[in-house]
Amino acid sequence: MPRICDYEGSRYRTDFWEGHQRAYEDGVERVAMQKLLPPHGQRLLDIGAGFGRLADLYNGYHQVFLVDYARTQLEEAQRYLGAQNQFIYVVADMYHLPFVDNLFDTLSMVRVMHHLTDVPAALKEIQRILTPHGHALVEYASKFHLKSLARWLLGRQAWNPFDHDPLEFVELNFDFHPVWMRQQFEAAHLPIADIRTMSHYRLALLKRLIPTDWLITLDSWAQPSGKWWQLTPSVLLKAQAIKPPAPLPTGIFRCPTCYSHDLYLTAMADGCGQMFVCPHCQHGWSFKDGIYDFKTPLTLA
Ligand SMILES: C[S@@+](CC[C@H](N)C(=O)[O-])C[C@H]1O[C@@H](n2cnc3c(N)ncnc32)[C@H](O)[C@@H]1O
Repeated sequence: MPRICDYEGSRYRTDFWEGHQRAYEDGVERVAMQKLLPPHGQRLLDIGAGFGRLADLYNGYHQVFLVDYARTQLEEAQRYLGAQNQFIYVVADMYHLPFVDNLFDTLSMVRVMHHLTDVPAALKEIQRILTPHGHALVEYASKFHLKSLARWLLGRQAWNPFDHDPLEFVELNFDFHPVWMRQQFEAAHLPIADIRTMSHYRLALLKRLIPTDWLITLDSWAQPSGKWWQLTPSVLLKAQAIKPPAPLPTGIFRCPTCYSHDLYLTAMADGCGQMFVCPHCQHGWSFKDGIYDFKTPLTLA
């Protein structure tokens, strides 16, 4: 089982974003996402959606699935986004997604790749659930950027940014080399169609001196250069799933344990909510307070 960076109970929204001078990082990610995101579609999946920071970008989609390993993040997303019918909240592990094949026309995964220990397994799962020609927008943290190159050349950093292997700089936090990342996407039959580099000006001094809106505009001008070279700490890839044509799926969920499609919905024994039951492996998966939980199997009597 790959190790997982568990955000259960974390206050990611207030400990990382709000009040922490990260309007620039948020702004440049929004620009890049808006440029690469197909504007309309039937179903979009945001993997590791957290508190739903980017969910307002998905207005052109009929159904938006917000998936996260941490139930508390999705509870925070419910508070943050309010009552909007298009959002469906699902607790699940991205290595074992509870969805049938060929379901999503678009998928986004921002600020999650850097927590993944098994990138090939994650990309295999992404490829499986995308429709043929469906798009994946995936952000990753790069080890090959101007600051790391300068630090290494000046002898102030031990690790070599030219080395292609992933770097675990803190437990469960990885930086990746762009060449290595491209190889993983190609091996997963997810060839890269476009690239935007982000956060060209992520320097405390620039962020202090230049108004955030200007810095975001300057970054948006530089982002398309990502097609030719990637020298920033954050990169957004747009990949397309290459797979044979397939009929439209009839259902949505499958059992994440035995992969059966025969789940049926029934009331919980305690009367609090409902659950999906898998008649094959006898696991139950709760649906309570507007959140499907496909992480914690219920033992059926
Ligand atoms: C840094 S946050 C990013 C949240 C959001 N995408 C954003 O950009 O604001 C990383 C999120 O990925 C989730 N995550 C990490 N590993 C996961 C896994 N194996 N399956 C599903 N979610 C995962 C965490 O619970 C956390 O909410």
